[in-house]
Amino acid sequence: MTDHVLAATDKGVQTLTLNRPDKKNALTAAMYGALADGLERAERDASIRVTLIRANGDAFTAGNDLADFAAAGATPVDRQPDEKPHVTRFLENLATAEKPLIAAVNGLAVGVGVTMLLHCDLVYAGEAATFQMPFVNLGLVPEAGSTLLLPRLVGMQKAADLFLTGKKIDAAKAEALGLIAEVFPDASLQTEALARAEALAAKAPNAVRLTKALLRGEDRGAVLARQKKEGADFANQLRSAEVKEAISAFFEKRAPDFSKLG
Ligand code: COA
Repeated sequence: MTDHVLAATDKGVQTLTLNRPDKKNALTAAMYGALADGLERAERDASIRVTLIRANGDAFTAGNDLADFAAAGATPVDRQPDEKPHVTRFLENLATAEKPLIAAVNGLAVGVGVTMLLHCDLVYAGEAATFQMPFVNLGLVPEAGSTLLLPRLVGMQKAADLFLTGKKIDAAKAEALGLIAEVFPDASLQTEALARAEALAAKAPNAVRLTKALLRGEDRGAVLARQKKEGADFANQLRSAEVKEAISAFFEKRAPDFSKLG
């Protein structure tokens, strides 16, 4: 149990709120567990028609908790040895969700904060939102099936530009690339996103579910297979000197030095 993710259901919309604002909503194993539970609940609870992922504070999420990454290089941080890690469960649940997922991105979205959006059927953002995937800068590789989904969405050159440089883009650019559906003034983002989620929840549920399946269903196997491949590379890199240097540099507030590695 964690109070860093708040779950509530009203008018057919399950809202999952990231609630760790002092750490920019960086995601811990417990938070992944709560998000995975929320997605599983949506699939089995007929009263939930749509899940809306949003965040408290001035950030959507700064991505995976970097202290957890550092610890994961030594020992698994979030599970008994025979259990699937919460993060894996969350990413798989995103890929296999049959009911619609909506995201409201209120500020910075980093790493998995962006790759999770590739699984959301509708992504809305505030004008101040930014999007960044600095996996390579951290000595890591992208995850969540994003190496398959992002090039399909924005083209190979734009995907490589985002992944290999780790550059940050703003909401207008993300909309132009097709990464998000619509941009709203920051002050009205949450009400606009909730209104859209409620409107979708009121539509014919089978028509909605079937349409989502037609849009995404055929790719599910390929996405899960890519998540597995990315996960293996990711786990190997987590134990590498490259990640050790990158994460030490982050917490020591200095630039990483990879010149003697590789
Ligand atoms: N993991 C753990 N802690 C994090 C974090 C993360 N991913 N992102 C931010 N935090 C913490 C900071 O350590 C800081 O904690 P402190 O107040 O105890 O020192 C707090 O959240 C606020 O972050 P800060 O860096 O002071 O805010 P900022 O506005 O100057 O910068 C970011 C925000 C997101 C740009 C910056 O924190 C950052 O680069 N975070 C790492 C993002 C990342 O690489 N994620 C993994 C992607 S794969």
